Order: sequence, then structure tokens, then C-alpha cells
Amino acid sequence: MAVMDGLDKIAQEVISCKKCGLYKSRLNPVVGEGSLEAKIMFVGEAPGANEDKTGVPFCGAAGGILDGLLGKVNIDRKDIYITNILKCRPPGNRNPAKEEIKMCTPYLDRQIEIIRPKVICCLGNFATFYIMEKFGLKDKVKGISKIHGSIFDYQSIFASMKIMPLYHPAVVTYNVNMKSVLERDFIKLRMFL
Ligand code: URA
Ligand code: SF4
Repeated sequence: MAVMDGLDKIAQEVISCKKCGLYKSRLNPVVGEGSLEAKIMFVGEAPGANEDKTGVPFCGAAGGILDGLLGKVNIDRKDIYITNILKCRPPGNRNPAKEEIKMCTPYLDRQIEIIRPKVICCLGNFATFYIMEKFGLKDKVKGISKIHGSIFDYQSIFASMKIMPLYHPAVVTYNVNMKSVLERDFIKLRMFL
């Protein structure tokens, strides 16, 4: 199946999805955005208020911080792919529930299969836990404060990929000191590329 067809199909399904209760309160689902040839995929947690209004991932405060970090290391947002664990906003930005993650992540799994990134950057604990468990790295999972900036290897007979947990850019809105920690990890990502 062509790349575009596959992603279009996912988008169509997500737009009419009612697999978990979040469809009731969402304004727009946020499927994902970016290059179909992306070597790097960023996986966040879930849409916030701005993303829910626009359908665009990381377009609010956290998005501004992410754009700044990408700019600092000369990574163009149009060369990467950005999506989230959940495609619909949890009310009041509460944490994703286990059942919601279970219902929604088959979409993410398909996005990964189609795009086949070389590196998946996991933004925050929810993305890190899901992606590391999915790729057989469950025994290496720790809280984001312990493993941010580490690069893990995934190898199968079909593919090799790196997985890099990062702090969620929203941490900078609670604690400005975290900006330099994120910057250091983005420099590490850049050097690795
Ligand atoms: N936070 C996320 O995790 N994802 C978004 O798209 C926006 C904010
Ligand atoms: Fe469907 Fe995911 Fe939205 Fe739940 S969060 S309704 S599973 S698209």
C-alpha cells in the first residue's frame, strides 16, 4: 500500500473513531503531521486545548517550546513526523487512562509501520513507557528523569531503530531550568543523526 494511502486511511478512521470515551468531548482529533519520509518521529502524550481546537499536533505552548528546541539544532519540523499516544484530548488535560491507551495505540502502531522512522523520540513518560514496551525494552524502562537522553537500540530481522526518551517540552512551562536539560538532549539527538 502506498504511504499516502495508508496514512489517509488512518486519518479517516481516527476522524470517526469512537473506540474510547474521549470522542464525546473532543472538538477535533489530532492524527499527526509531518513528512512521510521522516527519519525521526516524535511521539507526545495527547492533544491539549489548542491542538483540540485546530487538529494540529504541538501547536500551543508545548509546541512553541518544541519548535524552539528543533530550531536550535537545525531540525526542520517539515522533515519529521509528530503524533501522540492519544489522538483525542482528555478533558482538562488529565493523564491518559490505560483503557484509552489500549484503544488508541493501534493507530500509532500503524503510523510507525508506514513511516518506518530510524529514530523515535518519546516525549514524556507515557510515550516512553508505551514505545519501550512495544519494542521489547520493558526491562530498561525507568522514569523520564532517569532515562531522558539515553538512546536505546531496537533490532529485528526486518529493521533497526533507535528509541530516545526525552522530557515532555511542557515541563519547561512549570520549570524553566528544564530548558537547558532538553537542549542538551536535543544536541545529543542532532549529533547522533
Ligand atoms: N502535548 C502533547 O503531548 N501533544 C500535543 O500535541 C500537544 C501538547
Ligand atoms: Fe478513538 Fe483514540 Fe480518539 Fe479514543 S482517543 S476516540 S481511541 S481516536
